[in-house]
Amino acid sequence: MALEVTNLRAGYGKKTVLTDISLRLGDGEIVAMIGVNGAGKSTTLNTIFGLIPPQAGTIRYNGQEIGGRRPGLNVLDGMTLTPQGARVFPNLTIHQNLTMGGYTIRHRSEVNARRENVFRLFPVLAQRLNQRAGTLSGGERQMLAIGMSLMMKPKLMLIDEPSTGLAPLLVTEMLEHLKRVNRETGTSLLIVEQTQQIMTIADRVYCMKLGRIAVEGKPERFMDREELRKAYLADVGE
Ligand SMILES: Nc1ncnc2c1ncn2[C@@H]1O[C@H](COP(=O)(O)OP(=O)(O)OP(=O)(O)O)[C@@H](O)[C@H]1O
Ligand SMILES: [Mg+2]
Repeated sequence: MALEVTNLRAGYGKKTVLTDISLRLGDGEIVAMIGVNGAGKSTTLNTIFGLIPPQAGTIRYNGQEIGGRRPGLNVLDGMTLTPQGARVFPNLTIHQNLTMGGYTIRHRSEVNARRENVFRLFPVLAQRLNQRAGTLSGGERQMLAIGMSLMMKPKLMLIDEPSTGLAPLLVTEMLEHLKRVNRETGTSLLIVEQTQQIMTIADRVYCMKLGRIAVEGKPERFMDREELRKAYLADVGE
């Protein structure tokens, strides 16, 4: 089991946002997390990654309890977070951003090899090596942000809304890229997404509402507009 979250409660200061989150991710699985704005999707990813301390509950990664562990340690252990909003270093070039993404790697040859691998997945980045990241289009920046995570050769990637700002055709392409990473390296993916297209690559789906998992199911269930609407509006605890 790559990830097992049980009865997780977390929030900001004294405020509780996640009241009770339980979810699991098998090795090599792609799991999607959907839900209305403010449901707590980003808070969930950020808490798993160690940016927010849990108030209660457990987070197990590869069988080990990691609740509250520092993000840096999680990264060294093969977990990455690609935060919402394609955060990159705007004043650094693509090349330099990717190097930063692999900041823990000792050998330059290894950094180069991993960078080449990112370019293989996202050829558009290779054509813009020395362009400053701040001048990239939204979609290119999104690819770079994911490329930075890939530099760590992650075992588990937490990815927050990778399709934001992408043209519809590029959304499909981005999700196919992620599927390819999963297939080629066995990396488990927990992806927060709003687009319907996520259902084409997900093995399983959680729908969050008001700080809880309201519905869990196979992607087919959420392909249907009416079913999807019901999931979004579902009473918590269904
Ligand atoms: N730093 C913060 N301090 C206080 N409250 C916060 C903070 N960040 C988020 N919240 C609150 O926590 C709740 C959940 O926010 P979160 O960002 O996790 O939602 P989300 O499901 O990711 O939404 P979206 O789809 O809009 O990205 C919201 O009510 C939000 O206002
Ligand atoms: Mg969010």
